[in-house]
Amino acid sequence: MSERKSIAAQAAYRERSPADEPAIRALAASAYADSGLRDAVLAAPADAVSLVAELDGEVIGHILLAPVPGPERALALAPLAVLPAWRDMQIGTELVRHALALALQRQWRSVFVFGQPDYYCRFGFKSHTADGAQIACQGPRFLALELQQGALAGWTGSLDYPQPFVDLVSPH
Ligand SMILES: CC(C)(COP(=O)(O)OP(=O)(O)OC[C@H]1O[C@@H](n2cnc3c(N)ncnc32)[C@H](O)[C@@H]1OP(=O)(O)O)[C@@H](O)C(=O)NCCC(=O)NCCS
Repeated sequence: MSERKSIAAQAAYRERSPADEPAIRALAASAYADSGLRDAVLAAPADAVSLVAELDGEVIGHILLAPVPGPERALALAPLAVLPAWRDMQIGTELVRHALALALQRQWRSVFVFGQPDYYCRFGFKSHTADGAQIACQGPRFLALELQQGALAGWTGSLDYPQPFVDLVSPH
């Protein structure tokens, strides 16, 4: 294992607590210029899957999967952020892996994301899996993953994806 990748193995991936809010706010500020996005990050509902990556007592990454109105027990993955100094060390990858495992354990059925297909395909996200969802901004970066096989099969309907993240990917 390379030294950079072994950092990800040393980090702890745990559920976020109220005490993490300042660190999560700082992380969001480092990743997004838009203040609406930063507020969306902090306003996580109680049943959201929200994890932080912690290394030597410092929060260096955060992921939020929040319930999204649409198909039964669906989540929207938004955002995923790692502090610039700790990027490209597989921290983001481990956050996604741990969050998906926890979501499955809690009987969530599917996850949607706006993201780079090259990044998210490694977890099984596919563009065509999201085809049934009608949202304001469709396109090749709109992806979905079935946590439970067949969760999105045959489903069509509108998906109320968090607006700050739709705005982020919408053409201006
Ligand atoms: C996107 C982000 C979370 C990735 O976290 P990370 O910990 O650096 O990523 P990892 O180390 O797990 O993954 C690195 C791999 O992903 C690739 N990668 C990183 N960012 C990528 C991107 N935007 N698009 C495609 N691939 C990307 C790297 O090339 C690397 O590939 P490899 O494993 O084949 O070497 C991080 O760059 C970040 O915080 N960016 C700012 C916020 C953001 O854009 N979030 C995503 C949208 S919500």
